[in-house]
Amino acid sequence: MYNSLWLNYKKLSVSDDFEKNIADCLCNVCFVSFDENNPVFLNAKKEIETAFSVILDRKINFCSNENEMKNGLFINFTPEKDLGKEGYHVFSTDKGYSIEAGGYNGLLYGIFRFIELLRLGKLTGNVDEKVIPDNPLRMLNHWDNMPGDIERGYSGNSFFFEDNKVLVNDRTVMYARAVSSVGINAVVINNVNVKGEASYLISEKHYEDLRNLSEIFNGYGISLFVSINYALPMEYGIETADPLDERVISWWKERCSEIYENVPSLGGFLVKADSEGRPGPFTYGRNQADGANMLAKAIAPFGGIIIWRCFVYNCRQDWRDTKTDRARAGYDYFHALDGQFEDNVVLQIKNGPMDFQVREPVSPLFGGMEHTNQILEVQIAQEYTGQQRHVCYLIPWFKEVLSFNTHMNEASVADIVSGRAMGNRYAGMAAVCNTGNDFNWTGHDLAGANLYGFGKLSFNTSLSSEEIAYDWARLYMASAMGEESFKKINGDRITDVTVEILMKSWPAYEKYNAPLGIGWMVVPNNHYGPDVDGYEYSVWGTYHKADCRAIGIDRTEKGTGFTTQYRKENAELYSSADTCPEELLLFFHRMPYNYILRSGKTIIQHIYDTHFEGAEDVEYMSGLWNTLKGLVNEDVFERVTARFEHQLMHSKEWRDVINSYFYRKTLIEDEKGRELY
Ligand code: GCU
Repeated sequence: MYNSLWLNYKKLSVSDDFEKNIADCLCNVCFVSFDENNPVFLNAKKEIETAFSVILDRKINFCSNENEMKNGLFINFTPEKDLGKEGYHVFSTDKGYSIEAGGYNGLLYGIFRFIELLRLGKLTGNVDEKVIPDNPLRMLNHWDNMPGDIERGYSGNSFFFEDNKVLVNDRTVMYARAVSSVGINAVVINNVNVKGEASYLISEKHYEDLRNLSEIFNGYGISLFVSINYALPMEYGIETADPLDERVISWWKERCSEIYENVPSLGGFLVKADSEGRPGPFTYGRNQADGANMLAKAIAPFGGIIIWRCFVYNCRQDWRDTKTDRARAGYDYFHALDGQFEDNVVLQIKNGPMDFQVREPVSPLFGGMEHTNQILEVQIAQEYTGQQRHVCYLIPWFKEVLSFNTHMNEASVADIVSGRAMGNRYAGMAAVCNTGNDFNWTGHDLAGANLYGFGKLSFNTSLSSEEIAYDWARLYMASAMGEESFKKINGDRITDVTVEILMKSWPAYEKYNAPLGIGWMVVPNNHYGPDVDGYEYSVWGTYHKADCRAIGIDRTEKGTGFTTQYRKENAELYSSADTCPEELLLFFHRMPYNYILRSGKTIIQHIYDTHFEGAEDVEYMSGLWNTLKGLVNEDVFERVTARFEHQLMHSKEWRDVINSYFYRKTLIEDEKGRELY
């Protein structure tokens, strides 16, 4: 059982003349000059039929000759216009409305958006929306394992795999519809940690299922990708995985040719190599480019691409070793290889140099490489941001990352990952996905905003976080509840409250988490809940080094030198505590607790205040939510209320553990005399 996410179409109340006129107009739809056998066309048409017949409560008449239709919705195939294959133009005309698209993906996106505009009540006045997606690749990375569990999955089990088999069913179609409605065009179905049966996902055992799955995806403009085991040839009796060894090279060539014979539209492979125990080229004294290029050459004849992750670091560090800085690792391994990768290799870089913390600086690899295809990797699964039990709307965080000026020719991260800065054909954004087989797909209903939002943002990076939140809230929270609550007054109230909660949620989470960019302080392994010293004496390279006087890591030239990996302007900005953005102060500097921040507060008082505030913010958000009782659908209300109850308790736990830890270290009292333990 599953719901239809934000695609839950409901009848529009045609109480006023305007809505009645729209309904009368839109029951005539004309598709001009499309190939009517194209699978994407067929799905696009089906979507209109499904949506309009419910929303307008009318029978929909279709035609393909525009002269036959006086008024209505005209959908034109316009490859001669500058919309590319994926852009669309929606506008009003004196005969009703038009959607223009230069390709089938554009057609689908234009239609999905048109249906949204209708549901959002935005088809009023002069409509004119032309969007060409900013990022060529807009990907979801699922960390699903073939037995059916999900690494860092917080919303049930996999709907792609069960008992080591690939699942292809009605839920697959619903998934494809939903993610394509927000512009996703590439999906990796299995975990980057490829183990067990997943090694053999690209073998004759699973080809047929993969082909069926890819056909469903293709019908929604999505390319199927799989994560592979770099050392796969060794599972087939070859004694090495050295990327320069002829046996390895020809094994991969043959395997690729077999794969593409069976799954012709496969997009390519995602590879996690030499990372956290995964095999890779380092074993053979080769570098990351050697590994990636070997695979890239094998897959190139079939039009495939290799997405190679930059999450490479030493995860067996001695905590006593102060020279090694995990933050440096990505740049140290990849920067010197700039320009050496094949054209069909794309490096996938996590937003920060560490690992999806609530706050990190942007990875210096962005702006550090001028001749390499790059994808920005973010995580909507919320591993470190509340695991879909706490509400944490991440789009504002991603917006900050995208707008970061790398000072490589003044290019922002958005400029780089869109391909604009360097003219790359392969570039884009990927999110570690937050879905599972829960009824609502994302565990927390409000986490659906991250899934919807990631798609929308990767399609159009200039959308604001509020706009995205607003649309999602209206489409899911308000309209899912049926005609009654979709009516203006209730709909507005539900939407406003939901948007306010979403917009408050990431800052609140940051306040009660590890302070000032230092990160971690979580329970080891499951990464949930506070444990300030949990990783302090471990091998993972994630230390805060708090003692009774100071906390933080000196990452300047005098310390680990991490700041020098940035372009000059950013290196200077981060090098001095005076100019360093304060939310990152302890990431870059080791500071005494009595250091005075720009707010006039000492660091220790800032820690106390933010932690009390963070928990108060949760109380406020949960109070707001309670005002929706009786307005929103009861099931949704109950589910979200239960999560808020937990978040309330858990944010207090965070607050008290962190505050008490620092009180005990420093014995400095809270100026406001609140209770510390
Ligand atoms: C994190 C996460 C792992 C994951 C890894 C990755 O470290 O905890 O579960 O495998 O990231 O991105 O590869």
